[in-house]
Amino acid sequence: MAVNIRGKNYLKLLDYSSEEMRYLLDLAKNFKDMKRAGVPHKYLEGKNIVLLFEKTSTRTRCSFEVAGMDLGMGVTYLDPGSSQMGKKESIADTARVLGRMYDGIEYRGFSQELVEQLAKYAGVPVWNGLTDQFHPTQMLADLLTIEEKFGRLKGINFTYMGDARNNMGNSLMIACAKMGLNFTACAPKELFPEDSLVEEAKKLAAENGCTVRLTEDVEEGAKDADVIYTDIWVSMGEPDEVWETRIGLLKKYQVNANVMKLAKDTAIFMHCLPSFHDTNTTVGAQIAEKFGITEMEVTDEVFESKQSVVFDEAENRMHTIKAVVYATLK
Ligand code: CP
Ligand code: NVA
Repeated sequence: MAVNIRGKNYLKLLDYSSEEMRYLLDLAKNFKDMKRAGVPHKYLEGKNIVLLFEKTSTRTRCSFEVAGMDLGMGVTYLDPGSSQMGKKESIADTARVLGRMYDGIEYRGFSQELVEQLAKYAGVPVWNGLTDQFHPTQMLADLLTIEEKFGRLKGINFTYMGDARNNMGNSLMIACAKMGLNFTACAPKELFPEDSLVEEAKKLAAENGCTVRLTEDVEEGAKDADVIYTDIWVSMGEPDEVWETRIGLLKKYQVNANVMKLAKDTAIFMHCLPSFHDTNTTVGAQIAEKFGITEMEVTDEVFESKQSVVFDEAENRMHTIKAVVYATLK
């Protein structure tokens, strides 16, 4: 049966079937071809969407804005300080107001419960632009990038190094299990994903002919990988005090030339960005001064290497977000 996700929320990958993911990836490829060829696609003229951000963003915000405008829609952006939500108005009330004015709502915030609550009351599709638990729009961009580089998803050995229980670690584990990639989380035990989510991922992986593995051993984790992926060590919303323990836990999981050598010769390096690979940022410089390290989750050498596909990945945020918005609103 043809896939139809019109009117559906996009809150977490667990709500989506492998067929629906496949459909969104194919749609994104079409949109990318159209954009590259300069073919207009204002298919949603007359509709309006609102982007609610309670945390900062570059890629996700710009992707929704460009995607919305390319599709011919009006786009409103509300930054962390400029709406009543949470301070003077509940999520439920905000959702019911915005749902009367807009055809779709993007939300980036803290707990997954908040975006689920927004969706419950909005009456229009809600897209999760990142919560503490999940980052589902990033997953489509990552899968599209891997497929572009290797021509397939099934059977790819995917290794995630670092904070494996953050929004990226959780989401990538589910994304791989759904789409047939062999997932390895290479992290200290303290930062493994929650047992219940690992169990769920293992069940999905068994259905889709792939594996889910957790290891503390860098050599075992990186060996024979097609993709080495990492993310920042301290996520948005976490207190500055955690830097010290996090650096202590994660420094041996830094993606450097040695890690890339353990992976296959054809391996690629991926990162959702932003990344601390030098001291050219305020936080990067502060950490260097305080802890004496000038590169964190990835070395500048790897970040700038030919194996690094991070900017292709960033571009794909826009094409894939356009696919989600179109498919749920058309
Ligand atoms: N990868 C990502 O979500 O980037 P932003 O925080 O800039 O949106
Ligand atoms: N784990 C990161 C992802 C940023 C896109 C964060 O939540 O800050």
